[in-house]
Amino acid sequence: MVVLVSGRGTNLQAVIDHCKNSPIAEIVEVISDKPDAKGLDRAMRAGIKTTKLPHPSDKTTRNAELLKRLEELNPDLIVLAGYMRIVPKEIVDRFYGKMINIHPSLLPSFPGLEAQQQALDYGVKVTGCTVHFVDPEVDSGPVILQHSVPVENQETLKNLSDRILGYEHQILTRAVDLFCNDKLRIVGRKVEILEK
Ligand code: GRF
Repeated sequence: MVVLVSGRGTNLQAVIDHCKNSPIAEIVEVISDKPDAKGLDRAMRAGIKTTKLPHPSDKTTRNAELLKRLEELNPDLIVLAGYMRIVPKEIVDRFYGKMINIHPSLLPSFPGLEAQQQALDYGVKVTGCTVHFVDPEVDSGPVILQHSVPVENQETLKNLSDRILGYEHQILTRAVDLFCNDKLRIVGRKVEILEK
């Protein structure tokens, strides 16, 4: 498995910790578009190879480098764990069914950036998180797992984001586990889980 990160990397850390106890899930490389991403430090501490994508402001070159590296590694699974760039269609198509993403809302509600703030602004009573296969649209691919989180009265953004994050770590590692054990089947827009 290859993990892509842009930031602090708590979801990456959850997967690293999970892999320590798993006989079949292994992170071979962590790739980041941000050279100072905290996630890269977490990977290095765990002894995992890291790659920094060059040319942060040049999307075409950056995506060409990403595709080249992914084709070299040819991983069974690619995990977007807080990777804050849109993955271009060319890469999504090349790895469709092998690329998953974690998002802090109950999709299809509140795709895109600042999903927790979007939920607060809308006034929903329940939000949560989603892990899904990546398709060429933003935050729109077949849903693997979701977890709901109630929005409390007087909820703050930090409090809500922190509570959602705890469940992100749980459903992401569960999805990795299901994928690595060949328990997921994409059937059109739906994902069948062959064993709970
Ligand atoms: C998470 O909320 C994830 O759902 C979103 O970006 C955030 C990344 O957090 N895509 P971290 O870097 O894993 O701590």
